Amino acid sequence: MSVKSKGLDHVAIAVKDLDKAIALYRDTLGLELAELEEVPEQQVRTAIFGHGMGRVELICPTSPDTGVARFLEKRGEGLHHICIEVEDIEASMAALRAKGAPLIDETPKPGAGGAKVAFVHPKGSHGVLVELRQGPKP
Ligand code: CO
Repeated sequence: MSVKSKGLDHVAIAVKDLDKAIALYRDTLGLELAELEEVPEQQVRTAIFGHGMGRVELICPTSPDTGVARFLEKRGEGLHHICIEVEDIEASMAALRAKGAPLIDETPKPGAGGAKVAFVHPKGSHGVLVELRQGPKP
């Protein structure tokens, strides 16, 4: 049993100043800003560049009491997680669980764009937080 992956959906970068980071990724690196969103449940603002697979997501905390804020305090700006699009998130989680991977979420959570998402702890994936995602593409 293994995860049926469709590929890299996005990489997420934690930033301290969203507007400044947007200016770099859009104006200097030339990526298309596709979506700007505030996610109150996770207390972050996000900016997504590009469409379909291989997008870039900037995430910036709106409160000091969040996982992303603590990440920035501890490690500074940088790669926060990668996201893999999967065919079936429940089956993927079962496959990972069967192999002893430490899942942060017990069940899939609602993510952006009507997707279902779940996270694998970095200690089970060589130091990188991995998000699994199943859902429609924005
Ligand atoms: Co993500």
